[in-house]
Amino acid sequence: MQEQIKKIDNLEELQALYTATFGKNGTMTARLKQMKDLDNDARAALNRENTELRELFKSRQTEIENDVMMAALKGEMLDPSLNPMPENRGTIHPLTQALYELSSILESFGFTVWTGPEVEDDWHNFTALNTPKHHPARDMQDSFFLENGNVMRTQTSAIQIRAMEKVGVPIKVFAIGSTYRKELDATHTCMFGQMEGLYVDKNITMVDLIGTLRALLSRFFNRDIEIRIRPSYFPFTEPSIEFDMKWDNGKWLELGGAGMVHPNVLKNCNIDPNEYQGFAFGFGWDRMAMLKYGLDDLRKFYDGDVRWLKNSGF
Ligand code: PHE
Repeated sequence: MQEQIKKIDNLEELQALYTATFGKNGTMTARLKQMKDLDNDARAALNRENTELRELFKSRQTEIENDVMMAALKGEMLDPSLNPMPENRGTIHPLTQALYELSSILESFGFTVWTGPEVEDDWHNFTALNTPKHHPARDMQDSFFLENGNVMRTQTSAIQIRAMEKVGVPIKVFAIGSTYRKELDATHTCMFGQMEGLYVDKNITMVDLIGTLRALLSRFFNRDIEIRIRPSYFPFTEPSIEFDMKWDNGKWLELGGAGMVHPNVLKNCNIDPNEYQGFAFGFGWDRMAMLKYGLDDLRKFYDGDVRWLKNSGF
């Protein structure tokens, strides 16, 4: 019987022999029925034979099923035994991560997000920001002009104007977006991400500005951040400051500009500066990402080199 089972090479025949052995009228079934007439040794032997035969049927069945499957696979293009393709899992770009974090912090402070066009007109990018034509401050930013007189937005401050024109005061908004200037080195790229906060209401002071900056930076860097302010100049703020933060090594790092919104800017947006005051601040959020993630070359962010992104742990 054992030999016979081993020779069978298809499931139908195996099933037939199985029924002939263990079925209702099967040979083994008949022998088992006579078991009570056997002595102890013979019973034990029959039990063993019964178990072994059943196992043999089972293992032969598995073998035949495997053979059938392998034969079927040979006819197919797919080889399931090959290693799968290496997994390429996508991640969120560090710049986007930083943007999400900064945005959610500002939102928790009650600011709402605004965006605007990257190709701006002269009014929003310069004139309304108290930088009329021929104003020397236009030279502070090397701008890309279009032939029709429009400009690639040099600062997200343009969005402040759009927001104030549209919703008036009181207003508490932040603007995010790409900005463009003719500069390129390890810490400057022609296109960079800027983020800007604007809060105009009655009785807003410089203290509100500094408190907001400190809270924002401390939340973003997950520790108590010491900041330093220096007097500066921007046409659209008065007084104007630049703010730095103290880094691990004790060095001061320049982060961005800020100040109290210039009365002329408020007037340009039909807001009465005698009644309302506000602060504004702006910084490059890619710079923030660079500091947070410990990177040394801003240009890497924009190379789109997946190997760099992977090796940097993103
Ligand atoms: N727009 C300024 C810049 O790009 C930064 C700034 C924003 C300064 C808001 C003051 C207030 O340099």
